[in-house]
Amino acid sequence: MKLPGNVVLISGASSGMGAALAKNFAKEHCKLVLCARREDKLKELAETLKKETDCIYKTCDVKNKSDVDEVVRFAYKSYGRIDIAILAAGILIPNPIESFDSSIIKESMETNFLGDVYFIESLLPIMKKQKSGVIASISTLPDKRGVPGWGAYGASKAALSWMMESLRSEAKQKYNIDIITIKPGSVKTPMIEGFYRQGAISVEQAADYITRGIKQGKKIIQFPLAQVLMIRMQDLFPVVVYDKIPIELQKGKGYPTAKEKELKE
Ligand SMILES: NC(=O)c1ccc[n+]([C@@H]2O[C@H](COP(=O)([O-])OP(=O)(O)OC[C@H]3O[C@@H](n4cnc5c(N)ncnc54)[C@H](OP(=O)(O)O)[C@@H]3O)[C@@H](O)[C@H]2O)c1
Repeated sequence: MKLPGNVVLISGASSGMGAALAKNFAKEHCKLVLCARREDKLKELAETLKKETDCIYKTCDVKNKSDVDEVVRFAYKSYGRIDIAILAAGILIPNPIESFDSSIIKESMETNFLGDVYFIESLLPIMKKQKSGVIASISTLPDKRGVPGWGAYGASKAALSWMMESLRSEAKQKYNIDIITIKPGSVKTPMIEGFYRQGAISVEQAADYITRGIKQGKKIIQFPLAQVLMIRMQDLFPVVVYDKIPIELQKGKGYPTAKEKELKE
């Protein structure tokens, strides 16, 4: 895929991979629309990128469908088309078994899963009309098996991977829309600050993997190789073996300790 001139909308552009991707796509001379909740961060990044390309931004809380609709409308009205949408907004909140909390699961599902669903709902009519487009959503590498303590995050990302997979062939065959699932291993971004993650790669490396994958027309972009091999091998472990992996190892260093919830009688 040739990138120059393409209109690229990026959610979660105020930080981490979203911001690094914005820099990459600016270098590729794409026209950018950035969104996230923190306006100061978006403004700062957009002002830098404007030196290289057209770049506009709008605040948006992806948990609000109307915010998402407005961003998509803003992008479409401003540039007359949307060629690529990279959905990078996300949160990571531990949900320890000791204080198992449905509100954390709700927050994770609303941000990591429904947020992207709202974007897809809003983008599809535009891309169908264009008869082209790319929707690339960031899930996670371990999207097939549960990980102790990380069930809220994992459930939201597994749902996302499943939905992207379900859309992929039909979107391509009927409307020439490319659906891409991005599955990063550990990447050093503010999201994992404080959590020790072995083999975490830099945010620039991650953005390069993603940019290259989109250019090459990959449908699933997973990286880095060492982590891909490890996680996909673990996916094959029988339950009796999988359940023997030490819990603390799976949670990772820095995982918070939590008090037991009291039984309400
Ligand atoms: N880092 C990793 O190791 C890793 C691994 C696999 C997958 N991922 C996924 O990669 C994506 C990018 O994460 P990152 O690592 O780059 O983390 P990050 O630096 O924390 O960035 C997360 C981005 O999401 C935005 N965001 C969060 N909640 C939002 C909301 N309700 N509405 C709008 N924007 C929201 C944040 O912006 P505001 O706070 O300004 O809204 C921020 O720009 C996420 O989907 C994450 O789950 C990360």
